[in-house]
Amino acid sequence: MKLVLLGKPGSGKGSEAELLAKTLKVPQISMGDILRSIEREKTEIGRMVSAYIDKGELVPDELAMTIFKERISKPDCKKGLLLDGFPRYLEQANELDKLMKIDKAIYLDVPDDLIIKRLSNRRSCSNCGAVYNLITNPPKKEGVCDKCGKDLYIRNDDKPETIKNRLKIYNEQTKPVVNFYSNKGILIKIDGSKSIDEVHKNVLKALGKSA
Ligand code: AP5
Ligand code: MG
Repeated sequence: MKLVLLGKPGSGKGSEAELLAKTLKVPQISMGDILRSIEREKTEIGRMVSAYIDKGELVPDELAMTIFKERISKPDCKKGLLLDGFPRYLEQANELDKLMKIDKAIYLDVPDDLIIKRLSNRRSCSNCGAVYNLITNPPKKEGVCDKCGKDLYIRNDDKPETIKNRLKIYNEQTKPVVNFYSNKGILIKIDGSKSIDEVHKNVLKALGKSA
């Protein structure tokens, strides 16, 4: 199965993708995670990627497409995949269309006020990328990842002014991608304001799958 997960920043794409990838046994391809690992390499490309991410802007299309194509060429993507954070603009959606047939696009619908609350309370693992929330999904020990024991950190783009810019960029550039899949008749809209477990159950139900 080839799936796309869409939604505003902080709508829960990463949290749902982690569960769904396990259930469906397909790899989770998160462009944000890949770009953050490039950032950590401290190369010239890494510094360029940082400059975009830290402002809440999308990285240039050519670079994103090159990274994306390289990732999906790996053997684990042969049987299916789950795209988290790709495509982000219409050009990417059209390019993706030429590369593969997407079965369904899942759109997690969440209001802006909840997005701001979620992102202001998010903590991410610096080592394994696990995602927590101080209110809805706290780690057992403050500041420490339950899964690998490493430190949790606040993403650079989770500052209030950057969150606002990411929402603006989403409305301008990514929202048309939701309409793109709706026009194709493969969009599934899910209420993303429910709990992580409920969202997951509803996504599986909409896909006709069991846990
Ligand atoms: P990316 O990492 O994809 O960021 P994003 O789209 O802004 O989304 P987030 O990862 O912030 O949120 P999420 O929807 O995954 O929510 P999460 O599950 O963490 O991209 C980062 C940057 O990379 C972009 O700004 C851009 O610069 C660049 N980039 C990425 N893709 C690109 C592309 N294709 N082209 C060009 N540039 C690209 O949840 C958020 C919080 O809420 C967590 O604390 C979580 O625990 C909590 N939570 C989640 N779900 C629930 C729930 N149901 N109930 C309660 N709490 C919940
Ligand atoms: Mg994410």
